[in-house]
Amino acid sequence: MKPIVFALSGNEALAKNIAKAINADLGKVVIRNFPDGETYVRVLSEVRKRKTIIVCTLAYPDEKLLPLYFLSKTLKSLGADCTCLIAPYLAYMRQDKVFNQGEGVTSEYFASLISGFADSLITIDPHLHRRNSMSDIYSIPCTVIHASELISKWIKENVILPLLIGPDSESEQWVSEVAKNAGAPFIVLEKIRHGDKDVEVSVPNVEKYKEHTPVLVDDIISTARTMIETVQHLKGAGMKPPVCIGVHGVFSDGAFVDLKNSGASRVVTCNTVLHESNGIDIDTILSNAISK
Ligand code: R5P
Repeated sequence: MKPIVFALSGNEALAKNIAKAINADLGKVVIRNFPDGETYVRVLSEVRKRKTIIVCTLAYPDEKLLPLYFLSKTLKSLGADCTCLIAPYLAYMRQDKVFNQGEGVTSEYFASLISGFADSLITIDPHLHRRNSMSDIYSIPCTVIHASELISKWIKENVILPLLIGPDSESEQWVSEVAKNAGAPFIVLEKIRHGDKDVEVSVPNVEKYKEHTPVLVDDIISTARTMIETVQHLKGAGMKPPVCIGVHGVFSDGAFVDLKNSGASRVVTCNTVLHESNGIDIDTILSNAISK
């Protein structure tokens, strides 16, 4: 029997592309709110003994989690063989330690919630910084896909003489890989985050790269403060206006406009989170991973 793909709201286009690519059916489901705000889920497709795939990117995850949980549990109650969650962007991965007394390691709690109702997970470039692998916190099989080759290809096709720049040590894993594939040099800066929107970045001597086009690459752009700080330092150092690339453009309120106005020549993201900056398409690498 063919697998069947369900989309949570906002993920319909990706779900359709995945279903087509892996020769699966597209599932029908009604997800809405009752008048009191509680979540209603009704599956309209036959799922008995079928492999089910749920597509739900997890930017701004709190409001998505309950519909996702209810859908997964409902599919199982209707006899689905298994539920695989496709979350191109996986939330809460940055809360991976106690930064201040009294906090919890919420990446672990979130992982435990997801592992409690999905049978497997496929995601793109999760923020694995203080963790070596997804299995450190997720108890279900997880497949991690990387966007680095697509980003390198985009840079090769769109940027003349690029200098890849990672805004902090955490970004080195992405930047070094992207730089290698793009055949470009890279540097990694030092970042200190004092608060949600208070970021300090130090730029080393970039004198010898004056002819290059700086290309900032980071996994997540959220408040965009990391990128904005870096763009301004590069401007101060007399560099060309940089291109800013994020794998996941989460963009909190006003962040995208602020980044564009900061002096970036272009802001580009992968379509792991739907946004007008999407310029790098991950649908095919995702479908290939699901097929495997
Ligand atoms: C840091 O841990 C991440 O790799 C990104 O650098 C960070 O999430 C960017 O956040 P923001 O856009 O809020 O500065």
